[in-house]
Amino acid sequence: WWEAVQPAARDPILGVTEAFLADSDPKKVNVGVGAYRNDEGKPVVLECVRKAEQIIAGKQNMEYLPMGGLVKFNDLSVKLAYGDTAPVLEEKRVAAVQTLSGTGACRLFADFQKRFKPDSRIYIPVPTWANHHNIWRDARVEAHTFRYYKPSTRGLDFEGLMEDLKKAPEGSFVLLHACAHNPTGVDPTADQWKEMSQLFKSNGLFPFFDMAYQGFASGDTVRDAQAIRIFMEDGHQLACAQSFAKNMGLYGQRVGCLSVVCDNSQQAVNVKSQLQQIARPMYSNPPLHGAQIVTTVLSDPELKEQWYKEVKVMADRIIGMREALKSNLEKLGSSLPWKHITEQIGMFCYSGLTEDQVDRLTKEFHIYMTRNGRISMAGVTTGNVEYLANAIHEVTK
Ligand code: LMR
Repeated sequence: WWEAVQPAARDPILGVTEAFLADSDPKKVNVGVGAYRNDEGKPVVLECVRKAEQIIAGKQNMEYLPMGGLVKFNDLSVKLAYGDTAPVLEEKRVAAVQTLSGTGACRLFADFQKRFKPDSRIYIPVPTWANHHNIWRDARVEAHTFRYYKPSTRGLDFEGLMEDLKKAPEGSFVLLHACAHNPTGVDPTADQWKEMSQLFKSNGLFPFFDMAYQGFASGDTVRDAQAIRIFMEDGHQLACAQSFAKNMGLYGQRVGCLSVVCDNSQQAVNVKSQLQQIARPMYSNPPLHGAQIVTTVLSDPELKEQWYKEVKVMADRIIGMREALKSNLEKLGSSLPWKHITEQIGMFCYSGLTEDQVDRLTKEFHIYMTRNGRISMAGVTTGNVEYLANAIHEVTK
């Protein structure tokens, strides 16, 4: 039956973890996948999550959730994204369903887009998280790209972005990273978001925000939602994919939310029913435990406060490691400019290393990262930063 099946290509991100695990060298370092580690290089379970687990333990049944997931979880998630008192929530104009983390939210939306706007396009930034391309490809949506990052400045190519999006036909969908752009760590300023919002309005473009890092850009969940709030103020209908993988450390629980802002409450009911209908033959209904944890944390003022503090601790440790990596490279006498390491934000540093240099880092130094030169700063620690800087210096001499 399967003679014709060839092995699939290694995933550019998760394949790095596979290679790292297969390496037995004690010096090995994994700065590939975007998963937070503490300064000992260990995975972290947040204290607020541990407490929520204790509150839940032994009290919950194991029944199916509805197809759209835990209603309270959805309500709390959209408040986090749009603001507690957002008019769109008071007017019940938001269709929200629990999803299998951010990937599941993007995929559900891509399928919804294909079903109800079958001839529409998606515009994807260059570069972006590798899986975005897979998601819209598998949903069979016509994909186009727009300029986002300028290698010469290691910053945003705002002119290129505006120029490309001006050419997008009316009715196109545009994928935006709400904050802490993956992989570049480069976000538009508030004024640039405002200009983009105007363009979307005048040209009839639909903003789809992937918000996988709320809290990780600035340590403040409200500030990190500024792009969405700016578009909301301009009265856009938009959609948002949220993930609690990074900001609550719930990676393997697969807990996220897809919300679609509609014109009125009846539309929101209709849209939600269709999203549920797409979910039913795919996975029927989402998992229970992660949604219960998030719901417990977000509905308890003390736990929520603790969560804010813990997100900030993670964000601040990463900022500290950016400074350490940069200063170590400078100490080594590297003649290359490294200020982008501290200018970029979120989990990643888009280093500018070439594929060949990355390959050398892996072969000669057992340092694992994606071939586009992205360094997951979450995997950098006081214990490995010197080793990493030295290796980078060696391959960039
Ligand atoms: C990453 O970009 O490293 C993460 O979002 C993990 C993943 O699923 O790719």
